[in-house]
Amino acid sequence: MTKILAFAGSTRKGSFNKAIVNVAAEGAREAGAEVTVIDLADYQMPIFNEDEEAEFGMPERAQAFKELLMSHDGFLIASPEYNSSYPALLKNAIDWASRMGEGEKPLQAYRGKVAGIMAASAGGLGGMRVLVVLRMLLENLGTMVLPNQKAIAKVDSLMEDGAITDEKTIKQLKNLGKETAVLASKLG
Ligand SMILES: Cc1cc2nc3c(=O)[nH]c(=O)nc-3n(C[C@H](O)[C@H](O)[C@H](O)COP(=O)(O)O)c2cc1C
Repeated sequence: MTKILAFAGSTRKGSFNKAIVNVAAEGAREAGAEVTVIDLADYQMPIFNEDEEAEFGMPERAQAFKELLMSHDGFLIASPEYNSSYPALLKNAIDWASRMGEGEKPLQAYRGKVAGIMAASAGGLGGMRVLVVLRMLLENLGTMVLPNQKAIAKVDSLMEDGAITDEKTIKQLKNLGKETAVLASKLG
């Protein structure tokens, strides 16, 4: 069965991006994929430092995150837009997982994988600028990013009690999840 890993680049309790990635994950599930949703709050890792890596190796939580990426066929990633780019939290996790361990292939966590990307913001652009750089980052790591993507503007007006309630937004996000699952299954 096709396995999809879903996560947001935010550890904020009321994160808009956690809310949208949950909807996309549901779409992938409805398309028949086995979906794992994780919270990066459970994978806290230090800011990458090559000297510390040489001395102490890969931290346990970074290793666990990398193993999750390696064991899935595709990803659903919702990223906040911080100053037009991705948050350090997300880039740091992606950087750690790009490090090659013993017996692994280069960029094993990323190469040959598929990603559906999305962003949410209370602002009017919905985080569309982060999607440009997140796409470039993932593609450079060897992950094929779906042409379809979603930037959800004024997301706070589309939610109730921390969950997306707007029907049109739910449909669009579920469709992105479904497309990601379908492409991952075709490549798998
Ligand atoms: C350092 C910083 C920079 C931000 N820059 C942007 C930005 O460029 N564009 C934008 O739409 N929102 C920006 N925001 C607001 C975020 O969209 C907002 O904090 C959002 O709730 C973060 O996503 P989350 O709800 O998933 O945690 C910024 C927030 C922070 C803390």
